[in-house]
Amino acid sequence: MIDDIRAAAAAAVTALTAADSLESLRAAETEVLGKRGALAQMKTRLGSLATVEEKRDVGRVLNEAIGGAQAAADHRRAELAAAARRAQLSAERLDLTEITARPTRGHAHLVTQAWQRLEDVFVGLGFQIAEGPEVETDFYNFEALNMPPSHPARSMWDTFFVESGEPGSTVLRTHTSPVQIRVMETWEPPIYAVMPGRVFRNETTDATHLAVFHQIEGLVIDRDITFADLAGTIESFTKAFFGAEFTSRLRPSYFPFTEPSAEFDIKRPDGSWIELGGCGMVHPQVLRAGGLDPEEWSGFAFGFGIDRMAKERHGIDDVREMFTNDIRFLSQF
Ligand code: FA5
Repeated sequence: MIDDIRAAAAAAVTALTAADSLESLRAAETEVLGKRGALAQMKTRLGSLATVEEKRDVGRVLNEAIGGAQAAADHRRAELAAAARRAQLSAERLDLTEITARPTRGHAHLVTQAWQRLEDVFVGLGFQIAEGPEVETDFYNFEALNMPPSHPARSMWDTFFVESGEPGSTVLRTHTSPVQIRVMETWEPPIYAVMPGRVFRNETTDATHLAVFHQIEGLVIDRDITFADLAGTIESFTKAFFGAEFTSRLRPSYFPFTEPSAEFDIKRPDGSWIELGGCGMVHPQVLRAGGLDPEEWSGFAFGFGIDRMAKERHGIDDVREMFTNDIRFLSQF
């Protein structure tokens, strides 16, 4: 009978392992392990065995056979369930690559690009970069730049005042020139520095004017610096930034912090001129305010509008376009 049990157990395991779906496994289990299965039938035959010992030994072999078949069924069920889960997952997987475009990479804003290029060009000419605060004291924005309180030149800049300290003592800087003083105070001459940054004016905006815009300031302090050095630097910069077909000129002008002062224009290849900024020899009063002796040191300074340069470089009609943040406009540059 033991041989019969072993044969029935082997047949049961073969049938269970061969099941290729959970349904067919269930059917195979009912068939081989159910009440009518061969192994269950063996149980009924135990009673016909002659001795208690025989019943016990054969009964143990039978129980082991049933346990083994049950374990084979459980193992097959786990295998089939895992395969079913894998099949379901792969059937339900969403292939998003087919419907999503590759994310596009952004790029720096037009003015940031111009700012970075200006820094590169000036670093190439031997200048260092400095920055100063956007919220300034009246002292740095005006007074140290040779504009004492109620100096008429202050009206050249329509200023935003900040409620801090004495009324009128704190301003949003109207230009980057205050950084000249901060650099003179903290650096040892000789100084070759450019100072880019954001500036603010209480202006009505139009095609060439913004209330928040950007300037880059230049400051050179050394011994025996002349107006020719200023003109030569402006010309080298013009060619390096705009191209060899551009040239520059200086026109007499007035700024309280430079003497003599000039406007700096560039000539486009089509022969037309555009104004880019102001410049001049640093006024002795400004050198003194920065803690330098005008008998020992001389220098020049310049300041021009980065937004206007970007506008010129890319042939943009209206400077305000750059800040409406229309992605169709900005992505062109
Ligand atoms: C100044 O701001 C002086 N600090 C420049 C300077 C520095 C002179 C050092 C001498 C020595 P001005 O106000 O002209 O100067 O402005 C300089 C440049 O900033 C202008 O030529 C123009 O390019 C730009 N700019 C001025 N106002 C605006 C505005 N509202 N919107 C956009 N750009 C402007």
